[in-house]
Amino acid sequence: MALRTLVTRKALGNSVAFRQQLRGLQTYTLPDLPYDYGAIEPAISGEIMQLHHQKHHQTYVTNFNKALEQLDDAINKGDAPTVVKLQSAIKFNGGGHINHSIFWKNLAPIREGGGEPPKGSLGWAIDNHFGSLEALVQKMNADGAGLQGSGWVWLGLDKELKRLVVETTANQDPLVTKGSSLVPLLGIDVWEHAYYLQYKNVRPDYLKNIWKVINWKYASDIYEKECP
Ligand SMILES: [Fe+2]
Repeated sequence: MALRTLVTRKALGNSVAFRQQLRGLQTYTLPDLPYDYGAIEPAISGEIMQLHHQKHHQTYVTNFNKALEQLDDAINKGDAPTVVKLQSAIKFNGGGHINHSIFWKNLAPIREGGGEPPKGSLGWAIDNHFGSLEALVQKMNADGAGLQGSGWVWLGLDKELKRLVVETTANQDPLVTKGSSLVPLLGIDVWEHAYYLQYKNVRPDYLKNIWKVINWKYASDIYEKECP
C-alpha cells in the first residue's frame, strides 16, 4: 500500500466519510460560505453566522451522512424496519443540509448587492403575483412570524403552473415536500438558532432586517433558469 494511502487512512481513521468512500457511497460536506462571517453585519452578527454554519449546518451534514450509511447497511441486510425507521432522520438532516445550502446563497453583503431589489423577469413576476415587492415582503414576514415552532418561509416557483408561491415548511422540511414542482428561490430560516443571539425572541425584527442583505440576484438567476 502506498505511503500516502496509509497516511490518509490513519488520518481519517474510522470516520463515516472514509467508510462511505470505501463503500462507494456519496458523502456530503459542509459548503463554504460565499462571504466572511461578519460580512452581513449589522443585519446578522458574525457570531450567529459562524455558529449557524460551523455548528448547526455541520451537524446536519454529519448526521445525514451517518443516516445514509445506516440505511445502506439496513438495505444490504434486508432489514425493512430499520430502513423505514431511518426515513425521519434522513428527511430532517438531509433537509437541513439542503435548506442551509440555499440559505447561505440567499444572503449577500450590501457592498456586493445584498438588499438590491430584484430586476428583470423576477421583478415583473413579483409585481404581477403579489402587487409589489413590499407586499411580498409583508406576506413572507407575516407568514414567517406566524409559523409555530421552527421552520422556514419560502418564495418558490411552481414550475408546472409557472407561478410564484409563498409557503412555509416545518422543522427542516425542504420546499419540495409541499409539491414536487416547487423550486426554492428564497428561503428564510426562522429557527431561533438563526437570530436568538442578536434578536432574542423578537423574530419579527430579524425578519424585518434580513431583507437588507437578501441576494435577489441569486433568486433571479434561479427563476430565469427554471422559467425561461
Ligand atoms: Fe438554521
